[in-house]
Amino acid sequence: MTSKTLVLGIESSCDETACAIVSDQKEVLSSVVWSQYDEHRRFGGVVPEIAARAHLDKCDVLVQEALKQAGVTFRNLSAIAVAAGPGLIGGVLVGVMTAKAIALAHNKPFIAVNHLEGHALTARLSADIQFPYLLLLTSGGHCQVLAVEGVGQYRKLGATVDDSAGEAFDKVAKMLDIGYPGGPNLEKRAVLGKADRFSFPVPMRGRKGCDFSFSGLKTAVRVCIDGLGQMTETDKNDICASFQMAVVAQVRDRLNHAFQAFRAAYPTGRDLVVAGGVAANKTLRTALKEMAQANGFIFSAPPIELCTDNGVMIAWAGMERFCQNMTDTLDFRARPRWPLDTQS
Ligand code: KG4
Ligand code: ZN
Repeated sequence: MTSKTLVLGIESSCDETACAIVSDQKEVLSSVVWSQYDEHRRFGGVVPEIAARAHLDKCDVLVQEALKQAGVTFRNLSAIAVAAGPGLIGGVLVGVMTAKAIALAHNKPFIAVNHLEGHALTARLSADIQFPYLLLLTSGGHCQVLAVEGVGQYRKLGATVDDSAGEAFDKVAKMLDIGYPGGPNLEKRAVLGKADRFSFPVPMRGRKGCDFSFSGLKTAVRVCIDGLGQMTETDKNDICASFQMAVVAQVRDRLNHAFQAFRAAYPTGRDLVVAGGVAANKTLRTALKEMAQANGFIFSAPPIELCTDNGVMIAWAGMERFCQNMTDTLDFRARPRWPLDTQS
């Protein structure tokens, strides 16, 4: 056990407090996730102040739990990694202070991980994916297509010009009053609904490049709901299915452009990876798999439980950095904004 390289990862940038320990042999020794759904449910979305306090209550407890589950002590750890941004700064600070305190007290290297890099690299934990690869990063805060050239090396090919896909799922779920968190609830209802009942717009379809847009789609759903007046459960399910189909149609259109752009710049690249919370959506995963096959790419996605925020993704990105001697000093400042690509 002690001969292995072990990294502890801490995640607290949004509404999940999470800790995990992974090894350089790609083993997940422990993973604990505390979702703050109950704290935020009655507000229909994440309240930053409440989130920060909940992280403060839980962070230490989860670190202890992660050590206990893994059967190790601080002394066995090789490094401490933390999501140091981007995210809700109150929560990010809780994680960063906790990680720095552990690193200082136990004289361990400290690694500041970009939360988005956590999502971007997780697929390499569960599958054999070589750089460079094409990445669709789709979460609550982001929707981007990137070429992943290496650890810390990203080139953005396209991004949303307004809302993220996750935000659209959450806002439509709120309009339909189907509960928080929006994405998973909407997906469950979409299975029961008719995707061809409402014809929602597919923003950006046919446009050059790989940018996304979701705000017009969200407005179209609002107009549809207003037109229906009193909604039945069937109406709601049909809206969910039709909305989800429009999201997937846009991703299909945009990715067709991304495949070409990526191929032209990286002729040896062969993998398409999807990551981030929306990557948990099964309809999207199925569509991406089909598209990848049709375009000569190999499709990979992290297991569902590693798509939404978790500690494993931070521990693993920390491991990738640690193996390349990419550690940080204890004066590293938490970042509310932190673009992944080096060009921004
Ligand atoms: O990556 P994540 O956990 O947090 C951020 O970094 O933002 O992503 C959360 C987002 C939320 O918008 C949530 O509604 C969405 O991912 N999501 C889903 C599904 N599960 C989570 N969207 C669609 N289908 C799902 N099954
Ligand atoms: Zn995330």
